[in-house]
Formats: sequence, C-alpha cells, structure tokens
Amino acid sequence: MLVTTLIERKRDGGELRPDEWSQLIAEYTRGSVEDYHLAALLMAVYLNGMTPAELGALTDAMIRSGARLDFTGHVVPRIDKHSTGGVGDKVSLVLAPLAASCGVAVPMMSGRGLGHTGGTLDKLESIPGFRTKLTLDEAKRLVTKIGVAMMGQTPEIAPADRKLYALRDATATVEAIPLIAASIMSKKLAEGLNGLVLDVKRGSGAFLPELERGIELASTMIALGEERGCPTVALLTAMDRPLGHACGNALETREALRALRGEGPADLMEVTYALTVEMLLLGDVSDDPVAARALAESAIASGRAAEKFREIVAAQGGDPGVVDAPRTLAVGTHTHVVESTKAGYVAQIEPRAIGKAIVAMGGGRQRVEDEIDHGVGFVIDAKPGDRVERGQALGTVFGRDVQTRDLGIRTLIDAITIVEQEPDPPLPLISHRVTREGAVATAVRSDEQ
Ligand code: URA
Repeated sequence: MLVTTLIERKRDGGELRPDEWSQLIAEYTRGSVEDYHLAALLMAVYLNGMTPAELGALTDAMIRSGARLDFTGHVVPRIDKHSTGGVGDKVSLVLAPLAASCGVAVPMMSGRGLGHTGGTLDKLESIPGFRTKLTLDEAKRLVTKIGVAMMGQTPEIAPADRKLYALRDATATVEAIPLIAASIMSKKLAEGLNGLVLDVKRGSGAFLPELERGIELASTMIALGEERGCPTVALLTAMDRPLGHACGNALETREALRALRGEGPADLMEVTYALTVEMLLLGDVSDDPVAARALAESAIASGRAAEKFREIVAAQGGDPGVVDAPRTLAVGTHTHVVESTKAGYVAQIEPRAIGKAIVAMGGGRQRVEDEIDHGVGFVIDAKPGDRVERGQALGTVFGRDVQTRDLGIRTLIDAITIVEQEPDPPLPLISHRVTREGAVATAVRSDEQ
C-alpha cells in the first residue's frame, strides 16, 4: 500500500476510509509498514484528530490484530473497570474481588506503572509468588471457576496497540484523545465483556488534567464501547491529590488488603463503591443503585470480598495468608516521619511529584525492562483541607536506603503546601457520571458552578 498518500491526506485535514485503516494496521502489525510512516501518520492524527468513522475503524483493526477472549457458553455477565491512571490508585485490588463476590465476573486486564502513575500489576506482584502473566486459557478458566482473573495484557491481545503505544511514546503523540481511546478500548473490547466502567481521572495528577478533556475522553470511549455492543459508563474522579493514604506498590497493596477487611480510607472506599455499583448495574445484578451499594457494603462487612481475594491470590500463585496479615508484605525499612514546620491548612498534596518520586526511588520504571523495588513509597496522613499544627506528622517515607529515604523526605516536604488561611476545597471526589446520553455533574465545586 502507498502509505505516503495516506499520510499526505491526513496531514492536509482529510480522512482515511475504514478499509484503509484496516489494511494499514494489519500490515503494520505484520511488519510490512515502517515505523517512520506510522510515526508521521500519528502526528497528523495528533494535530488534526479523527472522525468517529476513522476512530471506529482504527479500534476495530487494533482488536482484529490479535485474539479475543471467547466466553461462549459462559452465562455470568462479564464486567471490567479501567482507570486512566493515578497516584495511590489501588481501587482495582479492592474492586475486582468485591464485584466478583457480588455476582459479576471480572476478567481484569491491567497495566504496569506508566510515567508518574502506578499500575495494578506492579501492586499485585508485591505479593510474593503472585503471577500476573496468565495465558488466555488460564484467564478464561479462572473467570469461569472463581469469577475473576487479574492479569497483564497477553501478547495475543491487541498486538497492534503494543507497537503503536511504543511509537507514540517515542514521538510525543501519546496525549491524543482518539489515540488514547482506541488504545484502551481495543484491549478492553478484546476481553469479551458485557459491560465496562471507566474511572477517568481529572486534576493535576491525571493524564488529561482538564475537566473538558476528561469528559471528551470518557464520551469518546463510551461511544466506541456502545457501538460495539459493550455498554460503557464513566465516572470522573479527582486526581488533584493521591487517593487513600498509601503511595507505592507494597504500601498500596497493604492498604487495599485493609480496605477489603473494612478498614479502608473513606475516599478510597467511596470511589471503589461508586465504581462497583456501576458494575453491578451494568451486569444486571441490581437495577437500583442504593440496593447495589448496600450489596457491595455487605460484601466487605461480611468478609465475602476478602474471601474472594484469598481465592484469587491462591489461584494465581501467592500465599492467601497475606489477606489476613497485610503487614507481612515487605516495605522499605529506611523510614522517616515528615512533620509540619508550621501551623495552618493543607492546601495541596501534588500527586505528580509523589508519583515521580516513587519512580526515582526505584518503585517505578524509567525503562520497560527495569526491575522495580516494590517496597518504597509514602503513607501520607494529611489530606487537602486538613488543619495541621506545627510538629504534626504529615506522612511517612519508606526508602530502601538512606539515599532513597532522603529523596522521599525532600519530595514530601515540597509536595505538601501548607497555608495560613483555609484554602478552597479540593476537586469533588466524584464529579461527573458520563453515559451515552452525556455527562451529568454529580458534585461540583463552587468555582465550577
Ligand atoms: N493507557 C493505555 O492503555 N493507552 C493509552 O494510550 C493511554 C493510557
């Protein structure tokens, strides 16, 4: 195929036909179209956008580049959740067993840390022995047998996305809404889902910080899902501060395990319950949000959700005993409590700074092949809006050595802003619900009304 004519057309504001996208992605996946051609085309898309027809064709071609999970004969509704990425976001570790214990099946395919954001696979792998590399057959067996599998993207799923993502990363074309939407939805739709819930983060620690861009991304993904027979709903949630208290893989897993035992921080539980309710509604487990919420709360209170996580850990190679003993997960031994140097109010806890520091301390990757240290990170006691006194603990740093601890201390001090006057409130934890009908504000800050 003559790729340069396609690049020219896209560069000049034109449109590629669905069959052209289809052939291009098939040939690129096979290796018969060069990276430099695709790189130029991606930049043209970044600058000029895509029509809905083009986006649909690209997404379908990416799905077709690999295998799909086939659940023929499986009757339990399969619903997954995807987050656009944040700091301290350990929701999946609580939500997957919780939703499964309430009656939906969860074939959850997650990612690793990306940039300053953490990844579910890295958190799960802080549990000794836990295997996230499952084959498609294994994943299917687990979903059928225990109602949930927590795994990484297998090489068979959407291989075009792997190649395209690496190319976008190298060509400054990651932050394009159609490309993000096609990337996420091609993987999700290959899971053979009956429904999908999206947690689209907004605020300074999000991929796309602005509200309008978050809503546009949510609506774009919802349209792709709905048009392909996968009902999709999104919640916009706050990422202008870390979620919960723990940031860093093992520390977050400890917090998630405590959450499964009913001891989770209020903000983590609120987001987890809200997303679980959407999953139960999509899966027809309930048609009433209040009843769905009560069902989810009772699964935590009764220990059913924790029991489901024990089943997952055992089935995927780990020791289920960790669920009852979160402190056995190894964390950094060089610790330090950072105290406030003055009295005042917490105005800001910058999630990007925290996420980048975890990477610099060895808890995230600078290159794909890097080994990571699961134990480093922070437990941040303070929350935006809190009143603090001089000498009050703001948070604890967990380093693997003196250097990483000291880097963590400097970061935490810089990341937390204390002011004298009571500051504006942070973003609402859950601000919008987005469906195919549009976005509805569920909570607004006074300056957004
Ligand atoms: N996550 C993905 O899987 N793809 C993107 O493009 C961005 C975030």
